[in-house]
Amino acid sequence: MVPIPKIAPGTEFGPLRIRGERVFVLTGAGVSAESGVPTFRDAGGLWEQHRVEDVATPEGFWRDPEMVWRFYSQRRLKAREVQPNPAHVALAKLERELGDRLFLCTQNVDALHERGGSKNVCHMHGRLMSTKCSRCAREPFDDENAYEAPPKCPECDALLRPDVVWFGEMPHHLPRIFETLEQTDLFVTIGSSGAVYPAAGFVSHLRTVGRARCVYIGLEEPENAHSFDECRLGKAGELVPSLFEVDKR
Ligand code: OAD
Repeated sequence: MVPIPKIAPGTEFGPLRIRGERVFVLTGAGVSAESGVPTFRDAGGLWEQHRVEDVATPEGFWRDPEMVWRFYSQRRLKAREVQPNPAHVALAKLERELGDRLFLCTQNVDALHERGGSKNVCHMHGRLMSTKCSRCAREPFDDENAYEAPPKCPECDALLRPDVVWFGEMPHHLPRIFETLEQTDLFVTIGSSGAVYPAAGFVSHLRTVGRARCVYIGLEEPENAHSFDECRLGKAGELVPSLFEVDKR
């Protein structure tokens, strides 16, 4: 029988005590919401204002590269104005305390974890401030530019594209992610609706491999709530700073 998760306001739970455990944190758009970065599926979110198939698929890019670049250029300009919030800062502190016993994996393309102080962030959906060639094997490169017209690759003259993972494309680092999940004792998802796979399936994968305690933090119950042991409801910026208690003995 599938266990029924405990779903309650985050303030009703105690901190997650960590002794020698290995911790996997998966973040979604909700962790950056209090910084002013719009989420995707909430009211007024990005997918209410834009069609996914127009701006987040390879087909949409080839249909109208100018419009796709306009969309990502606007997101780049907006990203320059925002600051990390207490949730990003708390996760950076957790990394300093746990070292390589923490694996921080984000679906977000923003750089707010790094700007909050995290050094090792696995960006499974790519990075907003990076550009790659749509054809040749040229290495993706850091790029904060906002473009009026789609830029071209200086090496092969094909169109350059944002270095983000679109629907229908394979997320990055999956072998490393699944290898890490196998060794995880505590799995925490923060601010993700649980609607997009494979990330939404990490928690049910953990159920099949074993032993991890699985905790959700976010404003509302995610679509994959049934797979978590607990859903702690509330804002990331308010709950995450007091979420972990690391035993340093
Ligand atoms: P969503 O927009 O689907 O979900 C954001 C979640 O964060 C929702 O469950 C909100 O309730 C929650 N939330 C909002 N504000 C919050 C706050 N202050 N604190 C905590 N939680 C809050 O975003 P993701 O689940 O990240 O993929 O979306 C996953 C993927 O779908 C994205 O990476 C993107 C998108 O389409 C691609 O573009 C490939």
